[in-house]
Amino acid sequence: MKVNGTHFRSLWWDFEQDALQIIDQRWLPHDFRIQQVNSLQDFADAIFEMRVRGAPLIGATAAYGMAVAMRLDPSDAAMDQAWSFLNATRPTAINLRWALDRCRTHLRPLDAEARAAAALSLAHEIADEDVEINRQIGVHGLELIRQIAKSKPAGEPVRLLTHCNAGWLATVDWGTATSPMYHAHEADIPIHVWVDETRPRNQGALTSWELNSHGISHSYITDNAGGHLMQHGQVDLVITGTDRTTRRGDVCNKIGTYLKALAAKDNDVPFYVALPSPTIDWTVSDGVAEIPIEERDEREITHVQGKTEEGTIGVVQVTPDGTPGGNPAFDVTPNRLVTGLITERGICAASEAGLAGLFPDMAAARPA
Ligand code: MRU
Repeated sequence: MKVNGTHFRSLWWDFEQDALQIIDQRWLPHDFRIQQVNSLQDFADAIFEMRVRGAPLIGATAAYGMAVAMRLDPSDAAMDQAWSFLNATRPTAINLRWALDRCRTHLRPLDAEARAAAALSLAHEIADEDVEINRQIGVHGLELIRQIAKSKPAGEPVRLLTHCNAGWLATVDWGTATSPMYHAHEADIPIHVWVDETRPRNQGALTSWELNSHGISHSYITDNAGGHLMQHGQVDLVITGTDRTTRRGDVCNKIGTYLKALAAKDNDVPFYVALPSPTIDWTVSDGVAEIPIEERDEREITHVQGKTEEGTIGVVQVTPDGTPGGNPAFDVTPNRLVTGLITERGICAASEAGLAGLFPDMAAARPA
């Protein structure tokens, strides 16, 4: 999508440098910095430190990490080591393991000399596929927005609420939850987006930055405001992303998503999740019991980064000295609270039958 009118993907291969370039998201929305990622350690740091973040983008980055590892040493041992090293960076988003498994399965039967080139072209393929998947999610999600728009007086915006950043920065392009919004905007359907700030890392500021760049009307709101807005009829539709969705449709996403789903249920507001198929974990069913939830550094709670009035980027402490923090980074929304899943193959119920109906090939291939 666009940054100051120029099209960017959130990562790209620089053929002159023969290396991966990423947008270092730690400095957004205040500073747009591009960074080259070289060694396997660099790739692991980029994912762990959230220079890149968002489930689909983590997966694509890991695929390029495997490609770089294969250049240095294409042996089976090095491949397994790279798999474990990268897989250990973040535990919740399943796209990481999905991409690493896909790379390893593809490379294992090849001769060592063929692996580096094959790994790089597979990484390109995974990145391009992600763009197309998200574009299709937008095409299907657009129909939901169009239906709501039809029920409103002409010119009145469809009001959407989203949590975290499930925008193009969290994917290779388009975003998942934002893709229907971009498509609606392109189709001249008036929309307004309520953007949850999403403490502690304020990924909502990334969503605002994206929507700003595309001229989409939105308001940045506190994480606590959504329930109130829903009670007062100010939200027509919630769309969030997901970091891992189980085969029965339980949705694990950024901490706070579950509370939005509860409020949506209580207020009869449709709650949809934009779900690319690589984010489905066919091996698990009960999300609350089975999905590992990342616990992040308490410093993310006790300190906040922002732009000072002098225009520099700085960090301030918001709690009394010595206050301990607790920082679970994700939560699980049970399928009964999810109105539907917007996938690249269409929209389905958040249920085993719903997902298997759209993805019979993947459901059948799942390990016993
Ligand atoms: O911790 P993050 O910033 O990687 O978490 C990202 C999210 O929770 C997104 O909402 C999620 O990946 C959905 S995807 C596009």
